[in-house]
Amino acid sequence: MIVKSFFLETYGCQMNEYDSGLLESLLVAAGLKKAHDEKSADLVILNTCSVRHKAEERALGRIRSVAGAPGQKEIAVIGCMAQRLGDQLLSENKNVKYVLGTDNFYRLAEILKSGNGSPVVDTSCREEPLDLVTSGTTKVSSYVTIMRGCNNYCSYCIVPYVRGRERFRPPEKIVEEMRLHAASGVNEIWLLGQNVNSYEYNSLDFSGLLQYLLKESSLPRIRFLTSHPKDLSDKLIDIMAGEDRICGGIHLPLQSGSNSVLKKMNRKYTAEQYLQKIRTLREKLPSVIITTDIIVGFSGESEDDYQATRDLMNEIEFNSAFMFRYSVRSGTKAEEFGDDVPEEVKLSRLDDLIRFQKDISERKMAAFVGSRQEVLIEEPARQDSGDARGKSDGGINVVVKNASDKIGELVNVKIISSSYTTLVGELTSG
Ligand code: 5AD
Ligand code: SF4
Repeated sequence: MIVKSFFLETYGCQMNEYDSGLLESLLVAAGLKKAHDEKSADLVILNTCSVRHKAEERALGRIRSVAGAPGQKEIAVIGCMAQRLGDQLLSENKNVKYVLGTDNFYRLAEILKSGNGSPVVDTSCREEPLDLVTSGTTKVSSYVTIMRGCNNYCSYCIVPYVRGRERFRPPEKIVEEMRLHAASGVNEIWLLGQNVNSYEYNSLDFSGLLQYLLKESSLPRIRFLTSHPKDLSDKLIDIMAGEDRICGGIHLPLQSGSNSVLKKMNRKYTAEQYLQKIRTLREKLPSVIITTDIIVGFSGESEDDYQATRDLMNEIEFNSAFMFRYSVRSGTKAEEFGDDVPEEVKLSRLDDLIRFQKDISERKMAAFVGSRQEVLIEEPARQDSGDARGKSDGGINVVVKNASDKIGELVNVKIISSSYTTLVGELTSG
């Protein structure tokens, strides 16, 4: 079959979203049509995630449902699960025709164009980071990768195995991509990497990169994701505090509040060291928004370990948290430790923690009522409501009344109400 149109579905993290944007621009440049639903596409592309068992199950379920739908569509599986399972995906699923891993997904355009129609599996690794530049977007806020891979080997994590070692993009390429986005109307860039704080190119570290990007571009907002606590430097905190264009939000995964669990997770910091980073952040940047990731039910996690996590979260009061129950990933160090916390204990800890954090988030959001926030308006909130959705400087979602004609603009907003996830506000003059 000659593939003329594609439908691309993305699972997992922002890195995958970035890769999907890149692939989409390559496919469109190669003359393929982007279909808006699965039915009208010849090829369904699934950009997959492997971070938890459930993410893979979902992708495998989607492969089956696309294969079972009428019309004999071809399927391309790309991303982390493609990297991990390779050939197996092709042999076990008759409609899967292309399996391209995290360093090879971009080849799909050239493979389809060459058009000999035979199946392709490529999970080989590249020494250099993939350095293609996306062709701009129609969005207000866009992603730019600054690095690929991870060297940290947290014992539970599959990422270093499916995304490879750390490779850093040259700063000139990062600027080039930022400028392309800016020229197409983007006002906010998210610098992406599994651990952006370990960025190093020649003698340029992450703080140096931020300073270079501020100098070379006039974009009003720069954000970054994700920071590893062990690499969060005072220098970076000073830059965040001193530069208005670097947004005041940070995602700083804690994972656990118990030192013995942190050690077993190979996180390379203690609860006390983490708390100290939070104190420094808040001292230098009092309005900073801090979010986190937590895993409950990791191998050997006792009730006391769990309470230590809960206590630390109580003390820190994160603005919000993503909370997960531990899921063993095959080939990781933690697989050897065993998965000894019973599923019902994991679930009850997760349920307890989600409720607990919800109260904290609710309280922290309510404290914004009456305040003024600068919001970058991204998209209409609901059809025909006239309202619009955007983000505050710290990264909080804000619905702004009667602002649907302000898409792409930075506006001043007075906050009038809140829920635990979203603020609601009105346009104000200053
Ligand atoms: N089980 C559960 N959660 C995990 N994460 C990473 N690996 C696992 C796993 N095996 C979580 C971590 C990480 C986030 C992206 O996913 O909290 O920060
Ligand atoms: Fe996984 Fe740890 Fe790397 Fe994050 S820092 S991607 S949790 S190994």
